[in-house]
Amino acid sequence: MAHLSVAPVTTPTTLLAAARAARLRAYAPYSGYAVGAAVLTEDGRVFEGCNVENAMYGATVCAERVAVTTAVAAGARRLAMVAVVTPNGGTPCGFCRQVLAEFASPELPILVAAADPGLPVRRYTLAELLPEAWGAGDLGAGGAEGP
Ligand code: THU
Repeated sequence: MAHLSVAPVTTPTTLLAAARAARLRAYAPYSGYAVGAAVLTEDGRVFEGCNVENAMYGATVCAERVAVTTAVAAGARRLAMVAVVTPNGGTPCGFCRQVLAEFASPELPILVAAADPGLPVRRYTLAELLPEAWGAGDLGAGGAEGP
């Protein structure tokens, strides 16, 4: 019998499970606000991230940016789906929304769940969380050179 090779399919449920697992590795001794994120890239890979805090608070990195930058460092360039798990279902910060926009279309699905798995998962698009996004397309002639 021929061996059938079936590529694993990442669903919203499995991406949320990856974010939940990443959240367990959060380093958040200062805020106590542990966040996990997982990104699915268009080439079908999943990368996880957690927030990594620092005693110099401003050096903290959010879970979403850890996941995205890990994906980009592995050669990925386009995101297909994002899942985030926070203690209370809080949505990605503005800084992370901007970073997601660099590597995704406005239709990017962003799933947000609370730590309590009994609470409902909310689904947004990037455009809903970051309307009228500023991006590379706004760097027109002279944009990078000044007025
Ligand atoms: N945090 C994230 O990881 N992602 C967000 O989108 C919001 C905030 C982290 C940063 C910090 O470690 C903690 O949550 C409290 O701000």
